[in-house]
Amino acid sequence: MLEFNTIAELRKALKAERSKGKTTAFVPTMGYFHDGHLTLMREAKKRADCVVVSIFVNPTQFGPNEDLDKYPRNLERDRSLAAKVGVDFIFIPTVDEIYPKGYSTYIDVEGITNALCGRQRPGHFRGVATVVTKLLNIVQPDIALFGEKDWQQLIVIKRLVSDLNMDVEIIGIPTVREPDGLAMSSRNSYLSAEERSAALVISKSLTLAANMVDRGEASASKIASALKELIEKEKAVKLEYLEICDPETFAPVEEIKADTLVAIAAWVGKARLIDNTIIRPKLENPGNLG
Ligand code: PAF
Repeated sequence: MLEFNTIAELRKALKAERSKGKTTAFVPTMGYFHDGHLTLMREAKKRADCVVVSIFVNPTQFGPNEDLDKYPRNLERDRSLAAKVGVDFIFIPTVDEIYPKGYSTYIDVEGITNALCGRQRPGHFRGVATVVTKLLNIVQPDIALFGEKDWQQLIVIKRLVSDLNMDVEIIGIPTVREPDGLAMSSRNSYLSAEERSAALVISKSLTLAANMVDRGEASASKIASALKELIEKEKAVKLEYLEICDPETFAPVEEIKADTLVAIAAWVGKARLIDNTIIRPKLENPGNLG
């Protein structure tokens, strides 16, 4: 695995790969790898000749009172995990390399960023959209892979790639969970043992939503009430939002008639955790499907 810290060096190496006819897959990350990241890298390896991973804790996507300084970091461990998976190039730029003096261009994806996490974290998706656009322009991959745990982020990135006519395919990869259901996240490292066990109620509530729909419940407000009741039983978990909405536009849904997103953000101690699932109405008459 080769490491690059400057845009110029990385570009030179990627140009050489492309000139040999090699395809590239890109996995942008903020580091502190867990199996969710490694799954993205493994999927990338299956789909392209050359896998590029970036590690950059992007300051523009953190609000003034958020955890930028405390965000977990362990570059030595990350380098060794990425090398084991077979990553070809790892790009670890400094903040000055990405945002040099005088930097003044930002990407704003309108509409869909006013819902869910965008509503709670003003400016967050402006920072994400800006850095992802820059990284995609630097790497110019054939494909780029993102986890579905950050569902809204995935939709925002698909939107900007389409709106800005960028020649890259964005691929969403299903959330990787611990055996007990907790969605993997670098921020899980903030949790004490008790908080971690309380946090399980988040994934349990998503399972409850899926079970309710399977049993024929179609009312979003009934599903939301049942989930809130379950989550409120865990005193250590402070629900920030629970939305049942369209998975592409994030418009609220009243009746589950098609694929619907259930998205949750909750605080557990110092950790702000997010998770989601897609619920599907039961087919009324599944016969004749061949
Ligand atoms: O999901 C993340 O880790 C980050 O938001 C991303 C996509 C690497 C942009 O900084």
